[in-house]
Amino acid sequence: MTEILPASNPDSIRQAKRLLSKGHLVAIPTETVYGLAANAFSEEAVAGIFAVKGRPSNNPLIVHVSSVKMARDCISAWPEEANILAEKFWPGPLSMVLPKSEKISNIVTAGGPTVAVRSPSNPIMKEILEQCGFPLAAPSANLSNRVSPTKAEYVAAQLNGRIPLILDGGACQIGIESTVLDLTSSTPTILRLGLINLAQLQKVLGEVRLASMTGSKEILKSPGQLCRHYSPRAKVILGEGSWDELIINLDKNTHVIALDSVPNDKNPDTWHKMPNSVQGYAKKIYEILNRCDQANAKAILIQPLPVESEWDAVRDRVYRASMN
Ligand code: TXA
Ligand code: MG
Repeated sequence: MTEILPASNPDSIRQAKRLLSKGHLVAIPTETVYGLAANAFSEEAVAGIFAVKGRPSNNPLIVHVSSVKMARDCISAWPEEANILAEKFWPGPLSMVLPKSEKISNIVTAGGPTVAVRSPSNPIMKEILEQCGFPLAAPSANLSNRVSPTKAEYVAAQLNGRIPLILDGGACQIGIESTVLDLTSSTPTILRLGLINLAQLQKVLGEVRLASMTGSKEILKSPGQLCRHYSPRAKVILGEGSWDELIINLDKNTHVIALDSVPNDKNPDTWHKMPNSVQGYAKKIYEILNRCDQANAKAILIQPLPVESEWDAVRDRVYRASMN
């Protein structure tokens, strides 16, 4: 049975620590999405993550830390760029890929020589990391290839009965996953876009590249970037080009995710009006996709997003959701 406990109660935090120390898995809120956490130094515990999610063993995990000191225990080289980035963006939604230390097992890194480390800002996750004293490997707390959960109830919808505990810390502040930046290539390379964007990273590091996203060899370094990911069960249609025509005759099982307000002739229960800011949209998109899944939507029609670089991370997730 899976218990769902309020994260605001110190007893829940102690219970999470007890379970993690014994090698069990706990779903914990972070500022991006809920994570499915296990002791990153325990091979057995980490193996449990792959089993519960049905995650292919070639997809490496992000290791969460509560300090630079804890990060340095997981990696074997800490370049000056890492210092600068940690100073500027940690704690927060930036994962840095660095050469792994011996303490990090090959299961975590999918056999590779590098490990992704991130220091989350969510106070619940931070508190648990501090109390545990060991780093936590944590992918998003969804089944493999499904939508990342931004509320405890969406974790439960996918993982109920598979893990002992979900900590309920309410809705995630950011709502989409962290930016993943590879610092082991000659030019720092973004492997996954997040709300910390290319321009912000270039401002502090100088040259930074964006890995080409689909099908390239480079992206196989980060299998989470393979396209068929982050998908709801319903078929997702991007309303590029012909939006006005697409919304004329909507089937009753088609949900709409739109920047426009609901027109008078449309059903407000299946028309999801999104915020017009990137931050607002990011915070809500997985929630709405999860809700469409819960409502057994057959199709989801998504209105095109503004063509501005600050929308890149959100556009990336919406595009991926359509690759099912
Ligand atoms: O915001 C986040 O990053 C959330 C929260 C829970 O922290 N975590 C998350 O983990 O999104 P996950 O496992 O769903 O996505 C991790 C991504 C995958 O695309 C994976 O391939 C990539 O990071 N990744 C992890 N380690 C890597 C490595 N050593 N080299 C390249 N890519 C790596
Ligand atoms: Mg994920």
